[in-house]
Amino acid sequence: MVDREPSRQNRNTMYNDNALKIGLFGANCSSGRAVTTVPERWSGSWKDSLRLAKMADEAGIDFMLPIGRWKGYGGDTDYQGATLETMTWASGLLAATQRITVFGTVHAPLFNPVIAAKEFVTADHIGDGRFGLNVVCGWNEDEFEMFGVEQRDHENRYEYAREWIEVVKQCMSPENDFNYDGKFFNLKGIRSKPKPMGGIRPLMMNAGSSAAGRSFALRNCDAFFTTASRVSLEETAEKVQSIKTQAREYGRDIDVYTIGVVTCRPTMKEAQDYYRHSIIDGADWNAVRDILALKKISPETVGQEEYELKRKQYANGMGGLPIIGDPDHVAKMFADLSTAGLRGIGISMVNYADEFPLFRDEVLPRLKKMGVRSI
Ligand SMILES: Cc1cc2nc3c(=O)[nH]c(=O)nc-3n(C[C@H](O)[C@H](O)[C@H](O)COP(=O)(O)O)c2cc1C
Repeated sequence: MVDREPSRQNRNTMYNDNALKIGLFGANCSSGRAVTTVPERWSGSWKDSLRLAKMADEAGIDFMLPIGRWKGYGGDTDYQGATLETMTWASGLLAATQRITVFGTVHAPLFNPVIAAKEFVTADHIGDGRFGLNVVCGWNEDEFEMFGVEQRDHENRYEYAREWIEVVKQCMSPENDFNYDGKFFNLKGIRSKPKPMGGIRPLMMNAGSSAAGRSFALRNCDAFFTTASRVSLEETAEKVQSIKTQAREYGRDIDVYTIGVVTCRPTMKEAQDYYRHSIIDGADWNAVRDILALKKISPETVGQEEYELKRKQYANGMGGLPIIGDPDHVAKMFADLSTAGLRGIGISMVNYADEFPLFRDEVLPRLKKMGVRSI
């Protein structure tokens, strides 16, 4: 028996009438997404996560998206060295909030899909239908070694994820006592109760950037995260359109999201000064070097000029769009992203909880006035 009539539209905040959804990305990790040494950098502690989630929930923020990371990146700060496991983190936050959607970020190759589906449904019940899933295949191969799991090549990695997500979805369907016979999974007599709240499965997202990853996301997920252009809004709009067109070719309608790194201060000068202080003068350049090395990006592989560019991009939010300025400027950038066709943005800040009140009090009301958000 399902608990209520299925209706995705009123199921959770991801289907509210905010044209541009806003989420907080990476708060379960030490340093969040700012590769910086400044002492006020994000702790990633449970206490701070909880404080932030409650503030965000009350302010009408749409979602919290954690990072599935198992091993720190090193450097002077051991960037993202302490991370809270995302399913337990999400369950705790869902129990403590009322409206916000909280995602779990789950590595398909590391979790049995039947157990994973059970965890997702449990979190969904805790949150009364507010759980979302970010399914990932693994970005940093060194992490896999500590689980004794070998990373597959891209085609197989996403083919495995397709089977994995099919099992998860079937577990959440009204069906029970079914078998799954695939290339990677051979499962018998699967029974999974209860079903998600309302009998509707949680929203599923993926952020693959390879051709295989993108095709997996567009065929199997509801939301796709991609990078916005740092060059022009037109480029971002074209990218969003091409993703949506590709999805339509598969008979799917997909929401496209991006990630941004917000430095908002009362004046442009204060924002730019703090950005320089925290992300340039105070960057953890040794961690940046190690992150890039993991991705095989070095002066030898990409040339000195490209390397310098990547260094700067990774220091600030690991490639997210820098949004630096006073509330007018920040609100305008958000509105432009909405105009470019994006459905939402996951943002990070050097210290989310300290910086959030200004964003809440000055940026959110501007977005409402501009018609970009209703809350
Ligand atoms: C918004 C966003 C969130 C992501 N979260 C994670 C994560 O938590 N853990 C992880 O291993 N990879 C994460 N990734 C990486 C992607 O899932 C993907 O592996 C990466 O973009 C490389 O694409 P590919 O797998 O197609 O090569 C994230 C990427 C983005 C843009």
